[in-house]
Amino acid sequence: MTRFDAYHRPINYLRISVTDRCNLRCIYCMPPEGVPSRAHDEILRYEEIEIIARAAAGLGIHKVRLTGGEPLARLGIADLVRALARIPGIDDLSMTTNGVLLARYADELVAAGLQRVNVSLDTLRPARFAAITRRGRLADVLLGIEAARRAGLEPIKINTVVIRGINDDEVIDLARKTMDDGWNLRFIEWMPERTLALEGVDWCEQTVAASEVRAQIEAALGTLEPAKLSAGAGPARYYRLPGAKGTIGFITPISEHFCGECNRLRLTADGQLRLCLLSDQEIDLRTPLRQGASVEQISALLLEAIARKPQRHHLDERQDVEKRTMAQIGG
Ligand code: 5AD
Ligand code: SF4
Repeated sequence: MTRFDAYHRPINYLRISVTDRCNLRCIYCMPPEGVPSRAHDEILRYEEIEIIARAAAGLGIHKVRLTGGEPLARLGIADLVRALARIPGIDDLSMTTNGVLLARYADELVAAGLQRVNVSLDTLRPARFAAITRRGRLADVLLGIEAARRAGLEPIKINTVVIRGINDDEVIDLARKTMDDGWNLRFIEWMPERTLALEGVDWCEQTVAASEVRAQIEAALGTLEPAKLSAGAGPARYYRLPGAKGTIGFITPISEHFCGECNRLRLTADGQLRLCLLSDQEIDLRTPLRQGASVEQISALLLEAIARKPQRHHLDERQDVEKRTMAQIGG
């Protein structure tokens, strides 16, 4: 039975961050040296994550997404996928990945029961990819996307964070991929993080509103028609270019907050339940788990989280999230 929060929102989606670590160091996401890595025993074990997922499924949460850091950077991740896929009530199991290791793992993930992937990709230019990610190779990600498609992890969604002066000149090239290669692409408004402020750069002036991206695309490639994606629409609004197989979505945390439709809870790698991506309120699940909490006791804590979920974020009022970076929460 679906549970509703205090603002009548159905809460049916759990995002599980399985690690803080990442094999890339995207400039807007992590400092060059990475995030300080947590001690092994601070991170939830797979069996602990499974207990939380069982409790969530019992409360009507039927959609689960694995995130990071980079989820494929955690050893044995397919084992966790297999365990989660077996839980009655979870009917939509997906992952958000940077795609670097996807070619290696796609088949194993499908065999374990993963249904879909979202791949983060901000540029189609190899040198720029190396600069943005500080260490990645674009070719690996493109091979990963291809492998995921062949393995049937569909619909694949490509997430692109648009930042002025970094990749806003590629919006049209990226949009073309929805026509040429059938990509389902989502442009995400970048959420500046104070924790990552770069010297001498006014990050707040580098956010690009979705309306601006949309205008650029329409001027170059034609009118965008409203479209629907079959699975996992999330907070994006979807459109299609004339004749395109793939779709273009916009995720607008800045220009148009979608808190009214928020249906999710987030679990951090160290076992804290976050009530909102952009609020530091957390409920500790790790301590009770390690004291031997049952699925029922974890359910009670999940219900508390649902009841306490804040109505909206206050990013537009420049209230910031201090405790963790977006990478640590899993976006
Ligand atoms: N603003 C918007 N999106 C972000 N992501 C990471 N950091 C930010 C940010 N500050 C994106 C990643 C990935 C998803 C999980 O979140 O690119 O696609
Ligand atoms: Fe890794 Fe994703 Fe952050 Fe890039 S944006 S450093 S791929 S977690």
